[in-house]
Amino acid sequence: MLPDSANSRMSSDLMQSPAWQALEIHAQMMQGRKISTLFAEDPARFKNCHVEQDGLLFDYSRQRITQKTIELLVNLARQEDLDGWRDKMFSGEKINTTEGRAVLHTALRRPADETVMVESENVMPFVERVRQQMKTFTEAVHSGEIKGSTGQKINTIVNIGIGGSDLGPYMVCEALKPWQKADITSYFVSNVDGTHISEVLKRINPETTLFLVASKTFTTQETMANATTAKNWLIEKLSNEDAAKDHFAAMSTNEDAVRQFGINPARMFPFENWVGGRYSLWSAIGLSICLSLGYDHFEALLNGAYAMDRYFQGAPLDRNIPVLTALFGIWNRNFLGCAAQAVIPYDQYLHRFPAFLQQLDMESNGKRVTRDGEAVSYDTGPVVFGEPGTNGQHAFFQLLHQGTDIIPCDFIAPKTSQNTVGEHHKLLLANMVAQAEALMHGRTLEEATGNPQRVFEGNRPSSILLFEEINPYHLGGLIALYEHKIFVQGIIWRLNSFDQFGVELGKEMAKGILASEGRGKSDIGILNYF
Ligand code: F6P
Repeated sequence: MLPDSANSRMSSDLMQSPAWQALEIHAQMMQGRKISTLFAEDPARFKNCHVEQDGLLFDYSRQRITQKTIELLVNLARQEDLDGWRDKMFSGEKINTTEGRAVLHTALRRPADETVMVESENVMPFVERVRQQMKTFTEAVHSGEIKGSTGQKINTIVNIGIGGSDLGPYMVCEALKPWQKADITSYFVSNVDGTHISEVLKRINPETTLFLVASKTFTTQETMANATTAKNWLIEKLSNEDAAKDHFAAMSTNEDAVRQFGINPARMFPFENWVGGRYSLWSAIGLSICLSLGYDHFEALLNGAYAMDRYFQGAPLDRNIPVLTALFGIWNRNFLGCAAQAVIPYDQYLHRFPAFLQQLDMESNGKRVTRDGEAVSYDTGPVVFGEPGTNGQHAFFQLLHQGTDIIPCDFIAPKTSQNTVGEHHKLLLANMVAQAEALMHGRTLEEATGNPQRVFEGNRPSSILLFEEINPYHLGGLIALYEHKIFVQGIIWRLNSFDQFGVELGKEMAKGILASEGRGKSDIGILNYF
């Protein structure tokens, strides 16, 4: 039960609340303030506006903020009881109220001897049992103890899943390519477009392939269509009706559906419904990561995330990297009017990170009704997009520098590259810093020798996240950082960040359209042309 003061606060409008109002007044005072002037006024601005933590440096000196802004934003977080909500999440309270579920992806990276209670049951023994099941299976596949139906060693993994059952594990396997097992090739199939599965089936040998069907619900149309196609292909190629038994495994919460599909129950890797799809790479859904990279690297990923969890729980709010990134996001979205957020990793291995983050952020906070069912009167989740630098520079950075919208950027980079080739890494990092500086300083009409086309307005905010290197441990930390950022923003916007009803209507309509096929002329004009 929330305290009375909290109850009355919840029913009043966030925008009328004291902390929000104080920020509105502050934002008016900050109007016209230039980030470059803030630097000129405070030669120690970088020193005062960065945090170093466990191999990560967070530089927020180019945000359009002062210490006062941080103070007021922290007040807003306190007013919305961030600490209380954070504790509820970590301790297994059912904060996903619309679905009546706890939110416990953090339990998946906790040491086995800790205790996390859900409905008076400690979930950690279950978490540890599945981790051991994944480890044993991974080692048996790698050693050749587990073979295909014709006795050949498995050397190909095909993960079939979509959304959270694809984007997370795929992003991680791409990001950690240097750790990829030399004798395993990994594919990820998600799209229901038959081209996706067909192009993979063309390249693989059925005798040495293991298909992983990754689906929390095991009812997702795209995944079931791709899994069925793969199964039929396998049976046909191996002329063996039972072949799926040796060539399929499943990661799901739906044991009955897995069994019905014909997957050996011993090859089913379970997880619980307190793991959201987009937060599931830490669960059994991470089996493709284990098989691609080795269990030890999956464990390092979990450890990195766990370290970030502990830091998020313990660091003071005004020095807490996930909290600060969230607060700057709120400031930019609600007080500076920025409708989008770019995420630019200066690391080719992180090329799927923006796509992963799109689901994580936009499926979590792309909502217009509060957790209490009231329509919001303020903006919530921004459009998130990105591409690796330097590629993005030659694509959409024109708009970032000279477009009419101000789009804050998160730049992410490793200090050390996994591939030291000539001067490449120096060039890469120089480009990143140059972009951040150019966004901030801009170029005046005078500097542009009177040519208005060459004027850069400047004063465009960005942050830099600089890691020692992108390895399994730091990647775990990076992902957890963004998970917590999104959580904090959801709390401040009074949202339930853990449901996703917005994806349902289109799914239902697709079913209706499929069912209506062949029943004569359709009211939906385009359908008559298929
Ligand atoms: O598209 C919505 C969604 O429910 C995502 O939240 C989820 O990650 C994805 O579909 C896949 O769901 P499942 O793992 O149940 O197949």
